[in-house]
Amino acid sequence: MTTLDTAFVRDQFPPLADGWVFVENAGGTYVPRQVIDRTHEYMSQTQVQPNWNFASSKLATERIARGKHLMAEFINADHDEIVLGPSTTLHVFLMAQSLRPQFQPGDEIIVTEQDHEANVGAWRRLEEFGLVIREWPVDRTTGALQYDALDTLLSPRTRLVAFTHCSNVASIVHDVPALVRKIHAAGALAFVDGTAFAPHFPVDVKALDCDFYVFSLYKVCGPHQSVLYGKRDLLKKAHGLNHHFIPDDNVAYKFLPGGPNHELAAGCVGIADYFDALHAHHRLEPANSFHARLRRVYQLVMAHEARLAGKLEAFLKAKPGVRIVGRKPSGDGRLAPVIAFHVPGRSSAEIVARLNAERIAIGHGDFWAARLVKALGLTAEEGVVRIGLAHYNDERDVERLIAALDKALP
Ligand SMILES: Cc1ncc(COP(=O)(O)O)c(C=O)c1O
Repeated sequence: MTTLDTAFVRDQFPPLADGWVFVENAGGTYVPRQVIDRTHEYMSQTQVQPNWNFASSKLATERIARGKHLMAEFINADHDEIVLGPSTTLHVFLMAQSLRPQFQPGDEIIVTEQDHEANVGAWRRLEEFGLVIREWPVDRTTGALQYDALDTLLSPRTRLVAFTHCSNVASIVHDVPALVRKIHAAGALAFVDGTAFAPHFPVDVKALDCDFYVFSLYKVCGPHQSVLYGKRDLLKKAHGLNHHFIPDDNVAYKFLPGGPNHELAAGCVGIADYFDALHAHHRLEPANSFHARLRRVYQLVMAHEARLAGKLEAFLKAKPGVRIVGRKPSGDGRLAPVIAFHVPGRSSAEIVARLNAERIAIGHGDFWAARLVKALGLTAEEGVVRIGLAHYNDERDVERLIAALDKALP
């Protein structure tokens, strides 16, 4: 099959039968039954401490390890290069604290005005230790990062640049390999937030060559977990934050005080089951690794999402008074299927209330990209209305959404 069979896809997600059009996927997706099943399986059979020699504990260890291995494969990493943790926000916070002993007062860190605060605030806190934080600004009209500004911001004191692969509001995809080359040439580390990118495009951390990559699994049909990738030597070198007896080469545990969540790590196996079910159902070319099969599924996902987002964008562009935020295609034409807009003189909250009344699940605000929304001259309370599609949205969803928008907008 060359197009995504949305009837089959939707059938995997029990909550999609509730009669609502769900387009708050950029906030978090529903999980397919495979994830529910794997979590249930773990909790109903193996909810014991792993790493012991009795049968249920051995099986628990295996299930957790399998979830982790598969999530490493998701982004073409090795299992000892990732940490599974509760959230992207916490991962960034912990890594900022882990790397801190390597920085000197007066060293510089660059954060963007475009990112979700998860990849900003944790770095800004290092100011308390004498680090200098520089802000990479956005264009006030489009919300796009001003690429030229990076050249002037990078200096011999720059130690790290934290930036997003794709903005969760302006929906602009960045050329990560090109930016990483520039950052490495300046002698700094590249720390990339892939949370808004990973649900829509395949990620290959080796090809990106970034030093760190972080993304939330609950936006790619998984449980409320996050993956942190780091180059092996950097993870080994970074200071551990767990108990004193956890050695520095125990990457899985040293960054996670309290340890990982076992049932959700095991539940991650269901993400791979789900994408493999799509691979098999669409009779895609066979491949030996989960990563390779996933890439093939993503080809269908990307084409499907681009078609739906294109229809919505064309509709909104034809509506007088509607201002779409960002959405400048990347160099290779990529656009995430996330469309944020506002209508000057109209309340975003009121537009959303009208849409909710039509059983459209959607929200408004700054989506914690607070600095970006402020730079665009909008308030956090009102902010933008954000349509966040997932691959399980279908033509019918888009028709219902367009009809509801037609009633709600001038
Ligand atoms: C781009 C981006 N980064 C980071 C986050 C925060 O993720 P988490 O909830 O896993 O901390 C979000 C959540 O909305 C996001 O959209």
